[in-house]
Amino acid sequence: MEIDHFYAGLAGELEALTRDVPYLIANLANASALLWQRMEDINWAGFYLLQDGALVLGPFQGKPACIVIPLGKGVCGTAAALGQSQLVPDVHTFPGHIACDSASRSEVVVPLYAGNVLWGVLDIDSPTLGRFTREDQAGLEHFARTLEEVLGDLPIDKVGK
Ligand code: SME
Repeated sequence: MEIDHFYAGLAGELEALTRDVPYLIANLANASALLWQRMEDINWAGFYLLQDGALVLGPFQGKPACIVIPLGKGVCGTAAALGQSQLVPDVHTFPGHIACDSASRSEVVVPLYAGNVLWGVLDIDSPTLGRFTREDQAGLEHFARTLEEVLGDLPIDKVGK
């Protein structure tokens, strides 16, 4: 799917913010701040990082959230276990959805890799039902691919398996 103008610009901004910065947490913190600043109608944007065999809360913007999500559980754990991004128009219909913020009604989660090694997920939530389209999903996948490209092998040194 073609990446729309908004997401092409967002990936460009991400690249400018993170290029040649050798610090994983700093880059993820700025990536979540960029999403928070630019995207409309969202209530959470951030990362869960694979540590000790589960997804552990990483840098984010929004309300305090669940700390540990087992692989295969909730939208984040499902995206990580399947290795496929998840577009959920209504979280109340997603089996096993984990409600960190009861205001969340829809979300997109994209798994993150270094080579073929999973190291985390990107999670974006909205208080609006059906907030995200297939174009948003493709745009956020593009954002994730850009992030993977700038980070290279950095997550593998920092994130336990
Ligand atoms: N909604 C997620 C949990 C994480 S929070 O939304 C930040 C899920 O079901 O995986």
